[in-house]
Amino acid sequence: MRRRKIKGSDEKLLSYSGYVITEAQNYKGKWRDLFGNNNPIHLEVGIGRGSFLKKFAVKHPEINYIGIETKEEVMLYGVKESHEEDLKNIKFIWQNAVDLKDFFEKGEVDRIYLNFSDPWPKKRHSKRRLTADTFLNMYRDVLVDKGEVHFKTDHEELFEFSLNSFAENEWKLKNISLDLYKNLPEDNIPTDYETKFVEKGMRIFRLEGIAPIK
Ligand SMILES: C[S@@+](CC[C@H](N)C(=O)[O-])C[C@H]1O[C@@H](n2cnc3c(N)ncnc32)[C@H](O)[C@@H]1O
Repeated sequence: MRRRKIKGSDEKLLSYSGYVITEAQNYKGKWRDLFGNNNPIHLEVGIGRGSFLKKFAVKHPEINYIGIETKEEVMLYGVKESHEEDLKNIKFIWQNAVDLKDFFEKGEVDRIYLNFSDPWPKKRHSKRRLTADTFLNMYRDVLVDKGEVHFKTDHEELFEFSLNSFAENEWKLKNISLDLYKNLPEDNIPTDYETKFVEKGMRIFRLEGIAPIK
């Protein structure tokens, strides 16, 4: 299905120039200079409306947060709120994460979040899943040694695929949950999709992957 673009949302997004980055390759190896500190960098791929990342940024001013998203009309929400709250530790990349290796230097990122990533259920689209081999290899490269990917999804088949993909690529797995809300960690921050799925009584799957040494 073709995406319906909302008129003017791209111009609106670009008006928040202090928050939105359209050529992340220019900052490769220089993200800490951009933030003006030496703090850890946590990245979320596919932020949607971005409320998860924004809540983290408010809670943890000692961490720099970067969100990547291709759809301007959804990321606009998180960008606008971050501007209104004058947050200094968050930036948004309006580009496709397939080019992640062009955006970050080896070992520049401390943690990656993947939340409710598109499941791409058809086998012929499996390479587009954000936990497919090529993505895991890119994450390993941009992450510090033993850096972590934290992944949540409502989609059982994507979760199963991801468990296998992490294991086959020699990532260590920990804190695996097949029903996150049965024993909800106190520090869980729900994403926008998560809130909707939990309200519908759906199960949430979660895992943490530790990158193999490069
Ligand atoms: C199902 S939504 C989930 C949004 C949000 N993480 C949440 O949990 O509320 C997935 C989002 O990932 C974005 N996305 C998917 N593949 C991407 C990619 N390769 N690069 C950047 N964004 C991507 C989509 O545009 C979409 O907004």
